Amino acid sequence: ELRGTLYDRIGPEALRSLLERFYVRVAETPELAEVFPGSRDPSLWATTLEKQFAFLSGFLGGPPLYHQTYGNPMLRARHLPFAVTPSRAHAWLACMKAALQDTPEIDHDTAAETYMALSRVAQHMVNTPES
Ligand code: HEM
Repeated sequence: ELRGTLYDRIGPEALRSLLERFYVRVAETPELAEVFPGSRDPSLWATTLEKQFAFLSGFLGGPPLYHQTYGNPMLRARHLPFAVTPSRAHAWLACMKAALQDTPEIDHDTAAETYMALSRVAQHMVNTPES
């Protein structure tokens, strides 16, 4: 299905596979892992993944699960407790690009469009200059 929203083209199962691969990579990238709650308590990676799944479901044009469960995302405000530097935004996007490439259920064009949409949001999330 090449038409429809990115969510229609990816589907919830591949979205979940993508995020499982993504957070493995985040946890293996020290400059990213150090700002995630999962680095202090590994059981928290599951919560982080669920929130991101809920957010991306709506962001990609599917059910607005994040809004329904947690309210207005206000993503930039919710990231202010974490030092999102340009370098961390770059590392976050590199993890996402690799996870997209590692998820064969997502075709190349869909992966490229998803990556472009996320790269705009990631730049918007930067809240701390490089140290
Ligand atoms: C939460 C880091 C970009 C969506 C978080 C958390 C951290 C973080 C540390 C807290 C996780 C938790 O409480 O379990 C970063 C970094 C980014 C980045 C370093 C680099 C640019 C993004 C982008 C999106 C996003 C691009 C969306 C496309 C979310 C969502 C949450 C979250 C939905 C959960 C918010 C909540 O309900 O507390 N992020 N993030 N993040 N992030 Fe990011």
